[in-house]
Amino acid sequence: IFILTCSLIVLMSKCPEALEDRQAPRKFPEGFLFGAATSSYQVEGGWNANGKVESVWDYYIHKNPETIKDFSNGDVAADSYNQYKRDVEMIRELGLDFYRFSISWPRLLPTSFPDKINEAGVQYYNNLIDELLKYNIQPMVTLFHWDLPQKLQEMGGWVNPHIVDWFTDYVRVVFDNFGDRVKYWITINEPMSICHYAYGEALVAPAVHSPGIAEYICSKNLLLAHAKAFHLYDKVYRPTQNGNISITIHSFWDEPETVDDIQIANDSIQFVLGHYAHPIFTKTGGFPKVMIDRIAAKSHEQGFPRSRLPELSSEEIEMIRGSSDFFGLNHYTSRIVRKNQETIYHVPSYFDDTGAFDYQPDDWIAEASDMFKVTPWGFYKILMWIKAEYDNPPIIVTENGFSSRGGLQDDDRVDFFKSYLNAMLDAISDGANVVGYTAWSLMDNFEWINGYTERFGLYEVNYESSVRTRTPRKSAFLYKNIVRSRALNL
Ligand code: NOJ
Repeated sequence: IFILTCSLIVLMSKCPEALEDRQAPRKFPEGFLFGAATSSYQVEGGWNANGKVESVWDYYIHKNPETIKDFSNGDVAADSYNQYKRDVEMIRELGLDFYRFSISWPRLLPTSFPDKINEAGVQYYNNLIDELLKYNIQPMVTLFHWDLPQKLQEMGGWVNPHIVDWFTDYVRVVFDNFGDRVKYWITINEPMSICHYAYGEALVAPAVHSPGIAEYICSKNLLLAHAKAFHLYDKVYRPTQNGNISITIHSFWDEPETVDDIQIANDSIQFVLGHYAHPIFTKTGGFPKVMIDRIAAKSHEQGFPRSRLPELSSEEIEMIRGSSDFFGLNHYTSRIVRKNQETIYHVPSYFDDTGAFDYQPDDWIAEASDMFKVTPWGFYKILMWIKAEYDNPPIIVTENGFSSRGGLQDDDRVDFFKSYLNAMLDAISDGANVVGYTAWSLMDNFEWINGYTERFGLYEVNYESSVRTRTPRKSAFLYKNIVRSRALNL
């Protein structure tokens, strides 16, 4: 009766205990891991230091500086190549459990020959890893965060099937050199950003324009490269090194515009997320049926003799299926989706293939770039979607964050983290198996085509100073308190 009475009073907003309860700190589960992330090209600098050669990003920007909003590049970036000790100090200040960073392939293997290792590259990552471990911070290493050696791009990069072997050779060197100390591996960061944006829409390096064709060849090669790296680790290294390995997939949440759009919104998530997750995380494996069917039908209409989506053989399906120890999710924002007008494009188009039209309403709160709108409810929904679709895998949120134009009083970022973490806790309460969270980013960095105009850092980086001084923002103090108390105080 007391509970009933109290609930009634709560409804009338007059029960003090209940009010207190609503504001009580929300606890994170026992053993939950907190981290922050960066990637090599975005923070390291030292683009040609001590034997490193050009990646596709170095090459592309040096050649086409005008493609970057502020005509900047990653030659120096946040200078982490020299400032790694300060980076680790910041991670200690925040009290994080792990640091997610990536290894630059052209720094480690400048000639791309696996037997010609750049010792200075090994030394740099050894220094960083050892510095982290000295303070009990786990390294979480991304093997590929977009900085492919330019040499390999000259042979086609991700559309050349040989990339599966190039990647295997490279990751073997990484496991051999660092696997004794690294227990969390991510093979590839955001396949969609690589295949769709770099080999489809040509928006980012290496800027190959081949929508609906090269992008799907890339998807197949990338999945095989990931799976081969997984199996290599699983069979050869795991028995002695005992770590975890997976891939990081980005996804929006796609919200149907009306009840009539529920199916198309779901299909759209299959094209973005399922594209890479279905082959790995479902019992049947292979690309999602909606992709196979739609791309085959569209290809036929466009006069192609076979589907533009390459087939996966049954051996390939088997090899890719189950190649993960956890689900790595990058999530930032949501979109509204409705059915596209039925147009038959005469040229292949990814957007025509999906059959979906997406947009973000103007009244959603925007971050520095209009592309990212603040939709914590979508974070809850995508986590629950993954739980339902892939049989509740352990999820590590490998990126989530907010971009601003700068400034230390980042109240908007503070609100962002509170609302997104709250949504994540709701998903955990409703059964999603989220075991870790990674803020993007530890510090301001080179935000690809937006250069330094967008700031994602918990720490502000002063690009005017030669040592790229780092200063904590208000959001850094918030995150530190959350990590220390293992709870969210709303
Ligand atoms: C995802 C990418 O992995 C990262 O490199 C990028 O900076 C953030 N999203 C923000 O756009």
